[in-house]
Amino acid sequence: MEAVSGKKVLNEEADVTPEKIEAFKLLVKEAAAAFSLVDKAETIRLVSHLDADGLSSAAVVIKTFLRENRKYCLSIVPQLTEEIALELAAESYSHYVFTDLGTGQFGLLKKHLAGNGKKVFILDHHHMQGESAAEGVVHVNPHLAGIESSREISGAGVSYFFSKALSVKNTDLAHIALIGAIGDMQEDNGFSGLNKEILLDAKAAGTLKAITGLRLFGVQTKPLHKVLEYSSEFLIPGVTGSESAAIQFIQQLGISPKSGSSWKKLTDLNDEELVRLATGVVLQRIGQQSPEAIIGPVYILKQEVDGSPLRDAREFATLLNACGRLGKASVGIGACLGDTKCKDEALRTLGDYKQQIASSLTWYEKTLKQNSMFGNSQKKSIILENGLIIINAEDNVLSTMIGTLASIVAKSSNFPPGTFVLSLARAPDNFTKVSFRLAGEKMVKADFNLMELLTAIAATVGGQAGGHHEAAGAIIKTEKEDEFITEARRYLAARRIEEKVTL
Ligand code: C5P
Ligand code: ZN
Repeated sequence: MEAVSGKKVLNEEADVTPEKIEAFKLLVKEAAAAFSLVDKAETIRLVSHLDADGLSSAAVVIKTFLRENRKYCLSIVPQLTEEIALELAAESYSHYVFTDLGTGQFGLLKKHLAGNGKKVFILDHHHMQGESAAEGVVHVNPHLAGIESSREISGAGVSYFFSKALSVKNTDLAHIALIGAIGDMQEDNGFSGLNKEILLDAKAAGTLKAITGLRLFGVQTKPLHKVLEYSSEFLIPGVTGSESAAIQFIQQLGISPKSGSSWKKLTDLNDEELVRLATGVVLQRIGQQSPEAIIGPVYILKQEVDGSPLRDAREFATLLNACGRLGKASVGIGACLGDTKCKDEALRTLGDYKQQIASSLTWYEKTLKQNSMFGNSQKKSIILENGLIIINAEDNVLSTMIGTLASIVAKSSNFPPGTFVLSLARAPDNFTKVSFRLAGEKMVKADFNLMELLTAIAATVGGQAGGHHEAAGAIIKTEKEDEFITEARRYLAARRIEEKVTL
């Protein structure tokens, strides 16, 4: 098998030019051609990432394999470590497909798998770190074509283009790729880059439609006043956080919050009421940054039944995250593939996930309060300093949930934009999981590359990091936690000063 990625990496710019798209599609085409040559008697070893994008990627590839009558064996992993690479290498499979991971661990896959005569396909969108081409490895990643991948395409998107290159029949999987993109926070008042092309495919296949509406969670399932009360991503001053204020707000707009004895859902409103509500909400948000941002595209999965939370692609992505992070990856993948039993179980898992988030936040808030009570005299689980917060949850938060906690803290607007949020939690086998985020929207991409920063810090304690500009993660040995934290404080303090001088 020839390595398809031995080409020069194009200069990476924000714009996705037709030339870059062509270069990416050529990579995809060559990978599909190479994969088509694999004997159908082979069982393909599939490895994917446990977040929503990783599960969506796996669902797209599995459906494609089933359509081709191929056998597969799947593993979902929180990260691809050297131990896992060694375990995979010891297995008897000869063909391996990695989705939504692999690029950051290219060296490991080259050494342990390709180096042992295994054939490797990587369908990923994470940033490259060092090597990206080797004999025996077919590598598809938008960065190889000079395409930035934090908004333009997800791991599921790369998997989708690969599937589509194998057969155009697979365009009916485009909506799954978009769920992955949404899970990776790539949707920002619409899709851009290659995701836009996937959106067109999904619309043409009739699996998804985009409507303009209020971009709030729970509109399919929760009473309208509850949806407004819980609107924290888009703050509605005077309404968010108060049930009675939310009910009053709806009434003041001339809309009855109840129909008979039951609370109305957004989907129960007529067109005229919807316009009144949308206008009212935007007016109430005046004074906020972009008050109209609460209105925008809402993606409806047409195959899901009316009234099901799964009908909203954003909620589907949350549900997949829940399944992945709570050890029910196969349930999430089954839900993507339309299995009704899996969908029911996935919905139950979503409930558990919300409880996990709540208990992680409770621990965080309690610890933050204790911090201010005890002063500097003892070792702290939360370190607050100028421009940096370090949360070491140890065993108090699941390692698979620490990224979610870091994201919530970063978005909470309790810290000035530009504050680094570094969080740690214990993972199995004496490892510690690290998640790294930055407070304040939109400034990340321009000012910092979190993946590069974390890679440098983790390297000082022999840890392994990866990710994107705006969200990075790492795995380190638990015994190195203190050293890692000391190094992070030193490195990030220097970094902030440097940034301030150059700003
Ligand atoms: O796990 P978390 O949400 O913090 O991960 C943020 C990003 O960093 C994800 O894209 C994930 O794939 C990546 N990551 C990585 N290597 C790790 C941990 C996370 O590439 N060891
Ligand atoms: Zn991804």
